[in-house]
Amino acid sequence: VERTLILVKPDGVKRGQIGEVLRRIEAKGYRIVALHMREASADLLAEHYAEHTEKPFYADLVAYMSDGPVVAIVAEGERVVEGFRSLAGTTDPTSAAPGTIRGDLARDWGTGNIENVVHGSDAPESAAREIAIWFPEL
Ligand code: GTP
Ligand code: MG
Repeated sequence: VERTLILVKPDGVKRGQIGEVLRRIEAKGYRIVALHMREASADLLAEHYAEHTEKPFYADLVAYMSDGPVVAIVAEGERVVEGFRSLAGTTDPTSAAPGTIRGDLARDWGTGNIENVVHGSDAPESAAREIAIWFPEL
């Protein structure tokens, strides 16, 4: 069965949205197979966001993702990678569709960061790579 790596980002944890994110994952019918809370180190974020380390927004992204603990989740189910990306909505929370996690629970706060509550792996290969980073025991 397919698995994906989901993060409740620091803004979601601070705003009390862990339960709502978990509820939506389970309501959709996916199974939560692993979960932990931790503060992400700069090294861990560089591995996780390897595709973005050379981007101009990378320093801001690390500051945002380091601003408190994150909840890391592995969810399982048929086509869960695609399914969770659909639940999450598009990257920019201002234009993310209502009904999605980002569309319902996030917005632009004028910080210059794109604070969008959750991460979800973008492909099965990314999911395998990211799960190994966050859950080496799996
Ligand atoms: P993730 O699930 O977190 O990977 O989001 P995504 O796949 O929808 O977007 P992407 O992988 O392109 O970017 C990763 C994260 O970097 C986004 O979720 C944002 O938090 C942040 N980000 C992306 N693009 C920008 C940008 O242009 N400016 C800033 N400040 N942050 C960005
Ligand atoms: Mg991404």
